[in-house]
Amino acid sequence: MEFSIKPLIPGRNASGCTVVGVYAGRQPSDAATALDRAAKGYLRRLLDRGDMEGRIGSTLLLHDVPGVASARVLLVGLGPRNEFGEKQFTRAVSAAVGALAATGAADAELHLAELAAGRRDIEWRMMQAACAARIAVYRFEQMKSRPAKEAPALRRVVLSIKSQKDARAAARGLSRGLALAHGIGLARDLGNLPGNVCTPSYLADRARELAKHYRMKAQVLERADMAKLGMNTLLSVAAGSSQPPKLIVLEHRAGPKNQKPVVLVGKGVTFDTGGISLKPAPEMDEMKFDMSGAGSVLGTLKAVAEMKLQVNVIGIIPATENMPGGRATKPGDIVTSMSGQTVEILNTDAEGRLILCDALTYAERYDPAAVIDIATLTGACVIALGHVVSGLFANDDALAREVLTAGESAGDRAWHLPLHDEYQEQLHSNFADFANIGGRPAGAVTAACFLSRFTKKYKWAHLDVAGTAWKSGKEKGSTGRPVPLLTQFLIARAGKR
Ligand code: BES
Ligand code: MN
Ligand code: ZN
Repeated sequence: MEFSIKPLIPGRNASGCTVVGVYAGRQPSDAATALDRAAKGYLRRLLDRGDMEGRIGSTLLLHDVPGVASARVLLVGLGPRNEFGEKQFTRAVSAAVGALAATGAADAELHLAELAAGRRDIEWRMMQAACAARIAVYRFEQMKSRPAKEAPALRRVVLSIKSQKDARAAARGLSRGLALAHGIGLARDLGNLPGNVCTPSYLADRARELAKHYRMKAQVLERADMAKLGMNTLLSVAAGSSQPPKLIVLEHRAGPKNQKPVVLVGKGVTFDTGGISLKPAPEMDEMKFDMSGAGSVLGTLKAVAEMKLQVNVIGIIPATENMPGGRATKPGDIVTSMSGQTVEILNTDAEGRLILCDALTYAERYDPAAVIDIATLTGACVIALGHVVSGLFANDDALAREVLTAGESAGDRAWHLPLHDEYQEQLHSNFADFANIGGRPAGAVTAACFLSRFTKKYKWAHLDVAGTAWKSGKEKGSTGRPVPLLTQFLIARAGKR
């Protein structure tokens, strides 16, 4: 799909479809009012008949509206005018593009940029609109022998702006929005791929490909390299699998030479059976999404590289399967992590923290400005927060605020949870320095506590995305979260210099 930005007057231009908004209570937006002027009151009469209330996300498709040059007009509901904000803005754009994709229109013009979305500027609005539009036509069909649905006819989308003076900021927003959508798309594709395709080796190949395309540095550590470094907790998870584990490192260094990098560490368990502490059968297929943290790191690096963001970012991905087998780690086994701390593995299903801790120790060598790890870490986080927000933990309050703000701005929210010392006691072990589980109470917190023992040397935040990285049920699939949050975090950092 091709996007462009133009100051168009609604109704004048002969496109496949003109999209304008209608507020709740049948109140036309400015663009809709302008269109109605060309249509000599046609829209007003239609609204008065009660065919379009303006409910947020609703749509109504009209054909051959008199006086209007385009073949179709799509009305999209905006909800109450006084409630119209950022969320409503993206919802309206997604609904409009979703409805557009179901028509035969090959090109369309969206008159939505003028809508005041909270206090956001034109660049933000264009970024969100372009991203939402691109995501609205996302399909995952690579594993079908033929496409499930007919491809949408929609080829070209013009995002209309009110005046030419907005053009520069709008163009930047547009290109950033598309880059973000491409990053989200990559994360979703990787998440949606089955465990027999998306293996640690596959992730490594995709990372190398990404590096080549965007001229980043890529490095892949093999089992022997990890053994030399003493990454025994990571290797203990890989022990039961016949797929070789990989530690993937990607470097985007487009910032100043002396600027310390932000390091993103993504959990890359390409399938989590639980190991010897085997998971129950129902919904186990969804454990193919257990590499979503890794996918979000690759997706964010893609977005950031495509934006040519002037920041230094390093992605580290510990990738492995978690399988039972003759060589698998057993409950009660004790291993020495790269940090030198010993861990009693009481439950082999608490494997995410075991691969992350060695990756977090490895991150020290990059002298990071901050480290953020992203992991589908605990079912307890899903119980605590559901599927709305990601769980956030940090050893630095300013960093936590920065992450929360990025999430707000990107419409990809997180919520700050506690890391108080008292919780650390739950990790007590009679035999090793500590155990890898902390019992039922506050499971998301004790998982974060475990990680905190490996992140003392830098500012660190942890995102538990177990509830937000994918959807279950009829709409089963990867969401690409938290790529929007992470990308926004880096955009803000790039702007701060
Ligand atoms: N990948 C899972 C966490 C998970 C479970 C995410 C369900 C989303 C849905 C993780 O490796 C895991 O198994 N965690 C255990 C930890 C427990 C053994 C302390 C869990 O949450 O049950
Ligand atoms: Mn597990
Ligand atoms: Zn897991």
